[in-house]
Amino acid sequence: MTNRKTAEELRSHRWYGANDLRSFGHRSRTAQMGYNREEYAGKPVIAILNTWSEINPCHTHFRQRVEEVKRGIWQAGGFPIELPVQTLSEPFQKPTTMLYRNFLAMEAEEMLRSYPADGVVLMGGCDKTTPALLMGAISMDLPAIFLPAGPMLRGNWNGVTLGSGSDSWRYWAELRAGTLTPEDWQGVEGSIARSPGHCMTMGTASTMTSAAEALGFTLPGFASIPAADSRHAQMAAKTGMRIVEMVWEDLKPSDLLTAASVDNAVTTCVALSGSTNSVVHVIALARRAGIALTLDRFDQIARRTPVLANIRPTGAYLMEDFFYAGGLRGLLAELGELIDGSQKTVNGRTLGENLAGAQIFNDDVIRRRTNPLLRDSSLAVLRGNLAPDGAVIKPGAAEPHLLVHTGRAVVFSDYNDMAARIDDDALDIDESCVLVLQHAGPVGAGMPEWGQLPIPRKLLQKGVRDMVRISDARMSGTSYGACVLHVAPEAFVGGPLALVRSGDLIELDVPRRRLNLLISDEEFARRKAAWVKPAARFERGYGALHQAHVMQADQGCDFDFLQRGGVSPESSGEPEIH
Ligand code: FES
Repeated sequence: MTNRKTAEELRSHRWYGANDLRSFGHRSRTAQMGYNREEYAGKPVIAILNTWSEINPCHTHFRQRVEEVKRGIWQAGGFPIELPVQTLSEPFQKPTTMLYRNFLAMEAEEMLRSYPADGVVLMGGCDKTTPALLMGAISMDLPAIFLPAGPMLRGNWNGVTLGSGSDSWRYWAELRAGTLTPEDWQGVEGSIARSPGHCMTMGTASTMTSAAEALGFTLPGFASIPAADSRHAQMAAKTGMRIVEMVWEDLKPSDLLTAASVDNAVTTCVALSGSTNSVVHVIALARRAGIALTLDRFDQIARRTPVLANIRPTGAYLMEDFFYAGGLRGLLAELGELIDGSQKTVNGRTLGENLAGAQIFNDDVIRRRTNPLLRDSSLAVLRGNLAPDGAVIKPGAAEPHLLVHTGRAVVFSDYNDMAARIDDDALDIDESCVLVLQHAGPVGAGMPEWGQLPIPRKLLQKGVRDMVRISDARMSGTSYGACVLHVAPEAFVGGPLALVRSGDLIELDVPRRRLNLLISDEEFARRKAAWVKPAARFERGYGALHQAHVMQADQGCDFDFLQRGGVSPESSGEPEIH
């Protein structure tokens, strides 16, 4: 390989290589940790950003995996430094990990900037950890490789295969409808998550780790390996080995990210019928790299891309089956010309070269293009007077008869209002109504996964399992239903969603990509003039920072001051001598 860096050109040389008092301090403190000078001198320093935590069940194996990453780094002649960073634990963090995605992205970037990192291994997987780590690494633009946590094993209860999230929603609805016993519900609770790893449905985690691989940030095939498989540990060691070479080669995120590689990520997300959350995350990632990805590009790509992954919630199987069937490499190879194989990846080869020889071993799990799960449009972008800047829906996850529907709005002003009234027998509602949730967007609430509003109990008991629901919230990638999400601009900043009143008619027309509030222009203008800006939710701290700077869903919900270009200088100051 030509143009390899020299030891003197390493960024860490500024910390370790100079012959001055400051470098003396760095070396003496490294000696304090038990290292001999020859163990690190002249070697690439590899930061490992580890999102392990005792409160993150998707990353429990990272305590061990980080040792395997280090093993690889040592063997390749690097010097590993584990840097714990905040975990974003989807099942536990309130009100939503989305509120903190940008916090972790900032932390990742600043950890790399302020310490002597030459390259970085990013350890993530649980939903927001993947985009957050990548966003920070893209902004810092040091050689970076992603270690995906891998999906957990299939759930199993009384011989029934259970999928994360999707089957929780399904059985919860049956419990509320009275068709599942509390004892069975408890059985599901103990059986649905039975190994380390992220959700094994095609939720946000599986979608985003696959997008990371399609962008070129993982070694080939690694996003599909189940966390509990011994090949996952082997992958960790290989990832550690590879990052050392990437430093010498100076292979950076800016070498991987192009408009075409971002299109590959979008194509991957829609071919998987992936989580709608991937829309905000991939837009945010792309814009960190200066690539102006839009909602409309998602719609264009979805229209031409078949769904080949038969994975819940859109399909029938789970990620473990997907891995055995050939994994992401099999799926990307089957997509053929829809994927631009000329794009570079972390192993220095192109995506196309990495897909050579990929096979499908079960073409019910990974469908052939001649027999797709859906012909196209696993995602649709809607516009109209209710969502001038766009909204999204996953048509394949909805009951088909609801995709063209006009109904009477039943409006909830916020989550608490919805929780208090949704099961009230006095609620004036039937299955033709449209449930509307306001003030759940990025500024108003941090954009939690409230967009799959529950079906009112009295309708569940009638057998209703899907209704049109509209909000400025997100929904879990493991969810399903006729849920219109990410309405922009959001209600909290005066978007038209704030103007809807119970009793208004709303028109949804997915084939024509329309979402309209059927009131007169005069009435629309009257309500807009009467709109009063809600009081700020946060008066201090991170919440106030988020509220002041988060952008709308169609722009990826990044902070305005992080998305725009500009330079953060390398520190010219020096740490204190102690
Ligand atoms: Fe971590 Fe679903 S809870 S990925």
